[in-house]
Parts: sequence; structure tokens; C-alpha cells
Amino acid sequence: MSDRLHTLSGYLYEYQKSVTQPEEFWARIADSFYWRKRWSKTLKWNFKDPDVKWFVNGKLNITENIFERNMFTMADRPAIIWEPNDPNEASRTLTYKELFHEVCRFANALKAKGIEKGDRVIIYMPMVPEAAVAMLACARIGAIHSVVFAGFSASALADRIKDCGAKAVLTSDGNFRGSKKIAVKGLVDEALEKSPVDTVIVYQRTHQEITMKEGRDFWWHDAVADQADTNVAEEMDSEDMLFILYTSGSTGKPKGVVHTTGGYMVYTKYSFENVFQYSPGDVYWCTADIGWITGHSYIVYGPLLCGATTLMFEGVPTYPDAGRFWAVVEKHKVNQFYTAPTAIRALQAYGTEPIQGYDLSSLKVLGSVGEPINEEAWHWYHTHIGKDKCPIVDTWWQTETGGIMVSPLAGITPTKPAYATLPLPGIQLCIVDADGNELTGNGVEGNLCVKFPWPSMIRTTYGDHDRCKQTYFSTYPNMYFTGDGVKRDHDGYYRILGRVDDVINVSGHRMGTAEVENAINEHPKVIESAVVGYPHEVKGQGIYAYVICDLTNRTEENLIQEIKDSVSKIIGPIAKPDKIQLVPGLPKTRSGKIMRRILRKVAENSLDNMGDTSTLLDPEVVKQIIEGRK
Ligand code: PRX
Repeated sequence: MSDRLHTLSGYLYEYQKSVTQPEEFWARIADSFYWRKRWSKTLKWNFKDPDVKWFVNGKLNITENIFERNMFTMADRPAIIWEPNDPNEASRTLTYKELFHEVCRFANALKAKGIEKGDRVIIYMPMVPEAAVAMLACARIGAIHSVVFAGFSASALADRIKDCGAKAVLTSDGNFRGSKKIAVKGLVDEALEKSPVDTVIVYQRTHQEITMKEGRDFWWHDAVADQADTNVAEEMDSEDMLFILYTSGSTGKPKGVVHTTGGYMVYTKYSFENVFQYSPGDVYWCTADIGWITGHSYIVYGPLLCGATTLMFEGVPTYPDAGRFWAVVEKHKVNQFYTAPTAIRALQAYGTEPIQGYDLSSLKVLGSVGEPINEEAWHWYHTHIGKDKCPIVDTWWQTETGGIMVSPLAGITPTKPAYATLPLPGIQLCIVDADGNELTGNGVEGNLCVKFPWPSMIRTTYGDHDRCKQTYFSTYPNMYFTGDGVKRDHDGYYRILGRVDDVINVSGHRMGTAEVENAINEHPKVIESAVVGYPHEVKGQGIYAYVICDLTNRTEENLIQEIKDSVSKIIGPIAKPDKIQLVPGLPKTRSGKIMRRILRKVAENSLDNMGDTSTLLDPEVVKQIIEGRK
């Protein structure tokens, strides 16, 4: 059943209803799903503890809502179209029935290995349909999946395995990425030395030589070989955990954002069909990796709950050349295309030549996610990819929000370049000043908060509820604080201005400055470091590191390279600083606090307005930093 809105007045009406009668509104949407037992109360909440429960005492399994609920009408409809890294390798299509059988077989395989409801399972896999199968099989048996982006290092993987106490790791022998072949299983072995698990299941992708540990490691194809293609889904409570996804914050250690079953299901389907205006038969493509929330909500769960055809792409935008995205759009007649501004900017740099010759006429909707989209990229996307006829949905949301919060509804909400426009039904935004006073009316700018719960919101941070409370619910009482700055213009449209905390956004990937600093500080020659973001043409933000170090027995150049390598090893290549400046000292206040404001100015090269430096312990240090800037 579809809950799709079709007109602007329809949206405004629904929005109003969703605010004045939120419980009735969401109950109506939730009623179109299959519940083994209907909920007894739609919502229980307080933002103080915080304690939020949707569809209280409802019983369900999210995969029954993808498969059994629709099987009579959709069995032969394509569920996943897979496009491999190498365009010469054949693509694959799995219908809903085929995907269902794969999910059941793998669910049975997991059970046979002793994985039970509530167990945590790490998924560290390439972009192949089996990665989606792995997630859904966990959901089928009630195991909690935690997908780790396959570009993260062994040490980052080990930290996540340990933090969630995983029982199993699902992985591959290797991954193809552009022209590279990455030895994934070796990284897993290294991680497991630090954080052991009972079971490892390895999907054979690259056929490279790997080591298999007797009794612990099993091939995927062996594990499913004798398994039945039917499976009775585990009955889950609406508030049982569906997954944990680690993300970076202002403090050092990434935190495990917890999403639960019922609310996440309802919201991802509802937001998917409304934002993208998906019609049965359309081919939808989101270019994200399943290691991020975008992949969870808008490659796997949202589209599949909607009976959509979702395209999964294993490769990168520039392999074998910068026309690859457009070749895939033409080949699979993609109707909705959803990517990140960093990819648009990277392709923009190649000019329009790589687009020529590809038929993009199937496109109806273009999407953007992960970081603010600058006007120039917005226009390029609109003109050259959308041929001035496809609405752009600039979708603002976060790992913690689970689903899209602010976005045009494609073809319904009038768009404005660089604006995420209006909140989705059910999303009650609030802009506050530094003291937490709500800024009402239009033409205001401040910090973005949400003042009422929505179904797919974060419930806790795994193993540390207090951290959830401190990070999101303590800055402003009775509000969820997003960490983003925002402007509401004279039309009431929202424009996201970027993070106001110590989180930076590099190519749409979220990075804590403290996390990068900790990695830099692990190098034995480093004494202290400070990391800030700076504007970067393609990546949105680049990473600028100021490092105090001991240069004995090293040249400056060598040491900088060693630091970059070591950050890659500790977190992953995505965290490698773009610029490292060796400095004699850092600008600190008398109480020892690093004044990042000054470091940001130097990194941005805006030196005329350094602000007040009178509270600095040693103002001379600023002069030296300016002289040595990169
Ligand atoms: O700063 C916002 C930015 O990305 C942050 C969330 O990152 P993450 O949890 O990794 O999720 C990314 C994908 C949903 C936000 O706090 N961000 C995300 N989308 C936008 C955005 N900034 C501006 N415009 C967007 N459309």
C-alpha cells in the first residue's frame, strides 16, 4: 500500500496533521505494514533520559514486511540489480523471490553456526548483493548487524568488533575497487588477533589466496550449500535492536548508534517513497556504500520495503573512466539517481565530455546527500545530468536520524539551489541560539534541533546510554541537537550551513577531529597535534593537521609521510590528513585549551580577522604558525 503524497497542498495538509496529531498520523502509516501483533501504544517518550519507544509492544519482523507481505504481487519483480566494478563482468539481477530464498538460506546458515537472536554480527563486505543478503538474514533471525565500511582499517574494525561484542564477522576474500584489488581477509585476520570472534564467513569475490582458520572460518558457499530456502522469521519487538552503526563524534571514540525495528521500518519506507516519488517499475540507484547509513536506509531497507528495484554498484565513479556513472544509468535505465556532492564535484572537474554519448533520458529524479551542496555543483547536476527537467532532492539527515529529515519531495516541493527546503511530515524542527532560545519566524540562523520524536530516531549509543544523552540531549533541554548550523530564509526554507562542533565532513564522510588527532598522536615522534577542517574544492572539507613533533633522525618530509601512513593504518585512508604542518607550538589559552578558531582561520587562509588573541598563553606562536602555513 502506498502512502505517497502527490501535491504540495497534500504535503502541507499532511505535515500539519503530523504535527497536531503525531500519534494518529504515524499509527495510520504503520497500519499498512504487517505486524504479528499490533502495538498497544503508538509513542512513549521523554528527551530527558532520553527514552523513546514507538509502536510499544508491537511484534513484527522487518523482513516479513519486505518479502511475505508482498510475495503474491511482487515475486518476479527485480529487487536488486547489481553492477560490478568491472564493466566487462556480467551484472546480476535478483528478483524478490530469489532474494528471499538467498536471505532464508543464509539465515539458516547463520543459525547453524550458532548465531541467535540478540547476537551482534559484523558485516565487512564489498558492494555485492550478498552484503544485503547478510543484513537481511541477520534481521530475519533477530541478530543485530553492524556494517563496517570496508575501507576502514584492521584496527578500526577491531575496535568495532570489541565495542559491540560481536560473535561473528561476515566478510570477503578481497574487494575490487577501481583498478585495485584489496586483500580484505588479511585485514580481518589482523583485527581478530586483537578482538577474536567465534565465526567468520567469507564470501568469495576475488579468488585471491587467503588463510582460513580451521573451526573459525567458513566459505559462504559451503555455509549455505545444504540450507533450505525457507525460514520462519523470528518475532521481534518493535523496540528490539535492528542494527548498530558506528559514527564519529566530537570526542575520540566512534559511537555505536542504535536503531530499532518498528519505527525504523515505518520511517524508511515512508520517506523513501515520498522523497523519491518512487513508482512501481522504476529503477532506483543510490551510489552510497552499505557501510554508511545512506546505504542502510536507502539502498537496502527503504527501497525493499517499498517493493522497489534498487541498484547496487560495486565500483567507483571514475573507473574505468569518468563516464562510468552515466554508462550505468544508460545500461539499467535508471529513473532515480542519488549521490553525494563530492562525487558531483569530482566529475564536474572532468567537464561535460565524459557525459556525451550517454542516454540519460530515463532519469526523473536526482538526489544529493551527505554534505552541503554548493550552488555551482547544484546547477551543474541540474543542467548536465538532469537536462533541466529532473528535480533535485537535497536530503539532509544523519546516521542518528535513521532517515531523511529535510528534503523536497521530488517534483512537488519547489526547489532552491543549496536548500534542503522543508521538513518531512512528522519532523518538528527548531532553531535555537547559543543559549537555547528558540528563534521563531523566518529569516533566522542558529543551531538545528528537533523537538519531537520521529520513528527512526537514535535510541541509544551501544553500551553507553549516558553518551547518547550527553551528546544529543543535554546541550538544549528537551531537544535533540543535530550538531548542524542552519538558516531558515524568508520563505521558511532550510539551508544547512555545516557542523558547529568538532566534526568535519570529508567527501561526505563524517570524521571527528579528536579521532584523527588520537591517530596522529600514536606516532612515537609526535608530541601533540590539533586537527581542523578547511574548505576543499572537491571534498567539501579537507583535513588540516598541526603537529608538534621531535624531528631527530627524520626529515620533515619523511615524518609527514609516516604520519599520513600511520593514520591510514589506524583509521583508514579516508582519514589521511590533506595537509600536515609541523609547528613549534599550538595556540592555547592560559587554561590549556587549544584555540581551534585560530587554527581554522589559518587553514582557511583568512588571516585578516583573527579575532581576539589576548587570552593566548603565547601569542608569538600564532605568528610562527602563519609563517609556516601550507
Ligand atoms: O552535517 C550534516 C551533513 O552530514 C552530517 C551527517 O553525517 P552522517 O551521519 O555521516 O550521515 C550522512 C548521510 C545522511 C550532518 O550532520 N549532511 C548530511 N546531509 C546533508 C548534510 N549537510 C548539508 N546538506 C545535506 N543534504
